[in-house]
Amino acid sequence: MMDGRSLLAQSKSSEVPIPCLDQIVQGDSHALLRQLPDECVDVVITSPPYYQQRDYGGLGLGNEASLDDYIESLLDIFEQCVRCVKHTGSIFFNIGDKYVEGSLVLAPYLFAHEALQRTGVKLINLITWVKPNPEPRQYRRRLVSSTEPIFHFVKSNEYKYFYDRFLAHRDLTRQRVKAGNNVGKQYLELIEKSDLSPEQKQEARVALQQAIAEVQRGEIASFRMKIRGIHSEAYGGYEGGRKSHLKNKGFTIIRMYDRAIKRDVIECPVIASKSVNHPAVYPEFLVQELLNLTTEPGDVVLDPFLGSGTTAAVAKRMGRHYIGFEINPDYCEMACRRVDEVEVQPSLLEFFV
Ligand SMILES: C[S@@+](CC[C@H](N)C(=O)[O-])C[C@H]1O[C@@H](n2cnc3c(N)ncnc32)[C@H](O)[C@@H]1O
Repeated sequence: MMDGRSLLAQSKSSEVPIPCLDQIVQGDSHALLRQLPDECVDVVITSPPYYQQRDYGGLGLGNEASLDDYIESLLDIFEQCVRCVKHTGSIFFNIGDKYVEGSLVLAPYLFAHEALQRTGVKLINLITWVKPNPEPRQYRRRLVSSTEPIFHFVKSNEYKYFYDRFLAHRDLTRQRVKAGNNVGKQYLELIEKSDLSPEQKQEARVALQQAIAEVQRGEIASFRMKIRGIHSEAYGGYEGGRKSHLKNKGFTIIRMYDRAIKRDVIECPVIASKSVNHPAVYPEFLVQELLNLTTEPGDVVLDPFLGSGTTAAVAKRMGRHYIGFEINPDYCEMACRRVDEVEVQPSLLEFFV
């Protein structure tokens, strides 16, 4: 753990020197962020304290007397994050709401609205974290809240984005189930029966084998082949597309991807762990999927409200660099211990990359 009074004095060397790379620093993010250079991190993932929701040892943000003061304080942190993120980077803020006198105050949305007005960032998605295991409390006059917003901001249209890696295990399982050994074999007989020239038949066989291999490798879910004189022509469509393939080459192949639609939802439970003594730990899975979506191994991930160290622990496990700031010395020590125990797991990287 580093003392945050001067980050630069204790900086680690790297290609582009970034102070406190792969370090957890104890201190106030309002001051610490100002010591980071412009555009030095790839992604910020964080969950700031919610408005008057929890006591983190009486320290830091969230204890402001008014909602306006809370949002101002949060915006100061956000503006620093925007400055520190590269133009290809992303900023994820997970913020929960608060009931005051029986009404939600919409704190997350008031913050997000102001963040857009003041900084010129774009809001790419409002991702909803769905908790299948919310607080087991019953209210007679309202429903139990079981979701939280995660705002995904970017600085430019060139933001890094690895769409296929987000919740990728769902696509893999869907495709594997469908790939059988006899896939597409019926088309071989139809090619032989057709009135295609010998050259066209040969070209059709090669294209068919290629499509079968793509299914077996899980790159496509399935395909359909149309052969001239055997299958009907498609109605409408572009003249230069499938119709002309069928007419000129004698066949056409329609590939079907059937991937799970990537929705702006991450469903994962809140996990209480005895070894992590912090009142508001968010799930590792959440961080993992956001990193899959927006980073590559070697990228730098910053969390200015590190708490028990979840963001840094996941970043390290996935082969990313981390920078973590935390105001409470006890949480800071806990986060250091947790991150020290983490090992880079290449198998997980192979699976998702
Ligand atoms: C919601 S918790 C983060 C929990 C974290 N995501 C995890 O999984 O453990 C917010 C944390 O921000 C810390 N904090 C509050 N104000 C801060 C400030 N100004 N600078 C740095 N940390 C602060 C609190 O002590 C608390 O641990």
